[in-house]
Amino acid sequence: MKDEFYHGLDAEFYDELLDGEIDDLPFWRALLKTNSGPSLEVGCGTGRVLLPLLQEGFAIDGMDRSAKMIDLLNEKAGKLGVEVDVRIQPMEALNMGKTYPLIFIPGFSLQMVASRELLKESLHCFHAHLESGGQLAISLFFPWEELEVEGSGDWHLRKKIKRPDGSRLECHQSTQINTEDQSLVVKNRYTLLDKHRKRLGEELRDIRLLWFYPHEFHLLLEETGYHLLETYADFEYEPMDEFTPYAVFLAEKAGT
Ligand SMILES: C[S@@+](CC[C@H](N)C(=O)[O-])C[C@H]1O[C@@H](n2cnc3c(N)ncnc32)[C@H](O)[C@@H]1O
Repeated sequence: MKDEFYHGLDAEFYDELLDGEIDDLPFWRALLKTNSGPSLEVGCGTGRVLLPLLQEGFAIDGMDRSAKMIDLLNEKAGKLGVEVDVRIQPMEALNMGKTYPLIFIPGFSLQMVASRELLKESLHCFHAHLESGGQLAISLFFPWEELEVEGSGDWHLRKKIKRPDGSRLECHQSTQINTEDQSLVVKNRYTLLDKHRKRLGEELRDIRLLWFYPHEFHLLLEETGYHLLETYADFEYEPMDEFTPYAVFLAEKAGT
């Protein structure tokens, strides 16, 4: 399977690039507490959210299409001594062989599927994996700010990481918003340097995020068999407004 992002330096340095950002963890913990479990995290990556919650005793399975991210997750789980059931597969062909009372998607992973058709297909797959009355919680990014500075595309240094052995990773980023196909392309350039600042490698990774207007996503959920229960802003249990960039849409499997 072609795996153009999250399989090289972007995967290897994923946790360090986020630098322990777990502001959203209390939100997911509170959500999991309202459900009987076990739950499924779609696009679980290196287990940034999944592993701490597993350690707290929640029962969660995971899946991600990147073998490298899942390898890193398994390695961390081994070190922590926690058992985890994580599968390598694309969400648009999700096949866990069981149903869940809750499926949740942190980290805006749903917006990374390759097309709107596949995103719709993914919503159908989640539906088939939800128990009667089951809930789906999706983190969504709304690029309001990027829409205001349409087409800037300037490169900036996103992060520098220094490892104990003296090697460094520099990540430069530029974003390009597209209103025609409603996508946001986040270009990342990763440069790995040794302790003498000799270049060891460079990787370019484009992540294309599909974006939606809130009412549009609401309609998409209805079309694919869900009933929207609530929208939340900024990983707080507060309702979103028209300026909210980070939201969670909580929906229920309809007709149950
Ligand atoms: C930004 S990371 C989020 C990881 C984790 N949920 C977190 O919050 O840290 C996005 C993840 O989605 C995964 N992903 C992207 N497209 C996918 C797809 N079509 N099916 C399954 N996983 C996908 C990537 O491999 C990556 O691990």
